[in-house]
Amino acid sequence: MNIREIYKGKRIFLTGHTGFKGSWLLTWLHDIGAIVKGYALEPQSKDDLYNDIGGDQLCTSIIADIRDVNRLSIEMGSFKPDFVFHLAAQPLVRLSYGIPLETFAVNAIGTGHVLEAIRGLDHPCTGVMITTDKVYENPENGIPFKETDKLGGHDPYSASKAAAEIIISSYRSSFFNPLQIHDHGKSISSARAGNVIGGGDMASDRIIPDIIRALTNDKKISIRNPMATRPWEHVLEPLQGYLMLGALQYQYPGKYESSFNFGPHPDHTNSVEVLTRRLLERWGDVTDRIEFNQAEQLKEASLLNLDISKANYDLGWEPRLNFQETVNITADWYRDRHLKGMDARGLILRDIHHFETLY
Ligand SMILES: NC(=O)c1ccc[n+]([C@@H]2O[C@H](COP(=O)([O-])OP(=O)(O)OC[C@H]3O[C@@H](n4cnc5c(N)ncnc54)[C@H](O)[C@@H]3O)[C@@H](O)[C@H]2O)c1
Repeated sequence: MNIREIYKGKRIFLTGHTGFKGSWLLTWLHDIGAIVKGYALEPQSKDDLYNDIGGDQLCTSIIADIRDVNRLSIEMGSFKPDFVFHLAAQPLVRLSYGIPLETFAVNAIGTGHVLEAIRGLDHPCTGVMITTDKVYENPENGIPFKETDKLGGHDPYSASKAAAEIIISSYRSSFFNPLQIHDHGKSISSARAGNVIGGGDMASDRIIPDIIRALTNDKKISIRNPMATRPWEHVLEPLQGYLMLGALQYQYPGKYESSFNFGPHPDHTNSVEVLTRRLLERWGDVTDRIEFNQAEQLKEASLLNLDISKANYDLGWEPRLNFQETVNITADWYRDRHLKGMDARGLILRDIHHFETLY
C-alpha cells in the first residue's frame, strides 16, 4: 500500500495537532501533500515541539477545546474532511488522579463530541480514534492483550479511554454501522497503541523528556517504578499503523471498522530502567545520574503487553524498529537538536524518510 498516494491532496481534520504525536503526524501529512486542519489547545510552552517545527505553517490551526461541541462541529463541518484522526486527550495517568473529572470530560465525552461532529457531516468520512493500550482490564499477569479482551481501567486516565472505546463502539453500532456504510458513508475505527517515544516530546512526567531534561541541565534522573515494563515503540510505528488503517478503511469501506492494537513485538518490551540505561549509553553519558524514587504512591500498571497479531494479519502492519534502534533514533534526535542545534522539523523528516524505506 502506498500511503503517500492515498493521502496526497486529501483533507485531514487532526485533533491534538499541537501535541507530541500530533506534531509528528502533522509533519508527515504535510510532507505527503495532505491539507490539514488542526484542532487542539495551545501548545503548553513556547519550547513545545509544535512551535519548534513551525506547526502553524503546516496547517490551519484552530485553538479550541474539544469539550466545545458546537465549535468543533462548525470547524469540522466547514472543512469537509475526507479523514479525521482524533488524538486530542489528557494523556497522563498520574495527572488523571489530580483531575479525574476533566480527564473523563476530555477523553471520553470529547471523543463523543468528535463522533457527533462526524455524524453531522453530509459526505463520506473516515475516522481513526486514538485511544491507548491502557484500555484493558489489567490483571498484571503479563499475557498480551487482544482486542477482544475485557475493557477496564484502575486509574481515571485508563478508565476514560476505556469509556471512549465504549462510546466509539456505541456510535458505530447506532449510527455508523459498517453493514450500511453505503447509506451513511462514515467509517470509524479505534487504535490502541503502547508507550511511544521519539524526538521532541517535552511533556512533564514522561520518562524520556525527564531524562533529556536531566542530561541537558546536568541533573540527576529520578526513576519511579524502575522494574515496570512497557511496550515501548517509536512514535512513527503507531502513526504508520493509524495511516494504514485509515487508508484501508477508505479503500475498502465496511471491512476495517473495529479496534486494532499497535505495539512492539512482545520480546521488545523492556523495563523503565533498561530504557533509561540504553538511552544514556547512546547519548554517551558516563556519569552515574540515576536515582530510584521509592516515595511514589500512585498506582501505575507494572506489566503491560499488547498482542499485535490482528494488525499484522488484517492490515499487514508490524513494527519495523527493534528496541535498540528505537532508543538510538530517539537519543540521536534529541542530541542533534539540543547539542548540535539542528532543525526540529528537518530531524522529524529525516526519521520519517528513513522509516519509510523500511516499508
Ligand atoms: N504518548 C504516549 O505514549 C501515548 C500512548 C498511548 C496513547 N496515547 C494517546 O495518543 C494521543 C496523543 O498523545 P500525545 O502523547 O501526543 O499527547 P500530548 O499531551 O503531547 O498532546 C495532547 C494533545 O491534545 C490536545 N488537548 C488536550 N486537551 C484538550 C482539550 N480539552 N481540547 C482540545 N485539545 C486538547 C493538546 O492541546 C495536544 O494537542 C492521546 O489520545 C493519548 O492518549 C499516547
